[in-house]
Amino acid sequence: MSAQKPHLQAVEPDAAQVTEDARVAADQARVGWERFQEIIADDKRIEPRDWMPDDYRKTLVRQVSQHAHSEIIGMQPEGNWISRAPSLKRKSVLMAKVQDEAGHGLYLYSAAETLGTSRDETYEQLYTGKAKYSSIFNYPARTWADVGAVGWLVDGAAITNQVPLCRASYGPYGRAMVRVCKEESFHQRQGWEILYTLSHGTQAQKQMAQDAVDRFYGPALQMFGPPDAESPNSQQSMAWNIKRFSNDVLRQRFVDMIVPQAEALGLTLPDPDLKWNEERGHYDYGELDWDEFFSVVKGDGPLNHQRLAHYRAARDNGAWVREAAAAYADKQAAAQQDAALLSA
Ligand SMILES: [Fe+2]
Ligand SMILES: [Fe+2]
Repeated sequence: MSAQKPHLQAVEPDAAQVTEDARVAADQARVGWERFQEIIADDKRIEPRDWMPDDYRKTLVRQVSQHAHSEIIGMQPEGNWISRAPSLKRKSVLMAKVQDEAGHGLYLYSAAETLGTSRDETYEQLYTGKAKYSSIFNYPARTWADVGAVGWLVDGAAITNQVPLCRASYGPYGRAMVRVCKEESFHQRQGWEILYTLSHGTQAQKQMAQDAVDRFYGPALQMFGPPDAESPNSQQSMAWNIKRFSNDVLRQRFVDMIVPQAEALGLTLPDPDLKWNEERGHYDYGELDWDEFFSVVKGDGPLNHQRLAHYRAARDNGAWVREAAAAYADKQAAAQQDAALLSA
């Protein structure tokens, strides 16, 4: 008698069942789509278990993971100054700030996970250089004043961008942004205070502060992305309530905020076209160097290669810590299981 293995026999799919399954799936997608539209129209939140269109999910995965990578790579320019901060107080404030950025990265990787993208996959994209991050972090922090300019201008631009994201339609992203923004506002103030101290110090210190502002002003304004006419994805993101304001609107808001702050610092913003426009009720500002922006985005900025190499080295050198932590967690879980068996 030949051995029978019924579970290995190919089973012809029941054509009627296939059609029925397809019909049920189509019905679920239709109901999901209607509900999604309703949530967006009512300006409410989409949560991880809700049905969402593939493009909405993809857009969010891209935005949230790029944001997370920016926080992580963004630790490097200032991290480089922790050992050279001019006093113990400055050192501890800077350490706290850089550590906050690591935390922001982790909240955001978690938010990306809720969209069905594993953390390993997201890390891998940064490691292999496939993923993008904010191009501002490809510029060096050359002097202590640069730490001030990064805090004031870069974290300042980040807040301007991120405050409206607290209302992003995707729940985990919006909620992560609330905490991030609270910490970013501390970052901006510590940067402003570093520059204020320098600009009220010796002539050389004031010059160092001015030089830092001169170098970071343009790239900080470019953090909002290309002009609206060249930013085709913005419209869709705004229709989905992910983005609330266009790149140019946010850039203008930032310029209007920093002009009086620069005056209070006693420093000049390096733009001869910067002047108050009574009619518009805003400051006019000059054309930005978009060729430079796109070349940095493409990978030809001053430090693109160094930033990625440093990230890879840190990740490789930390592999043993992750392995040890995983082995310890396994050991703890096994011990708990044994204890549960013994007490049963
Ligand atoms: Fe941050
Ligand atoms: Fe920050």
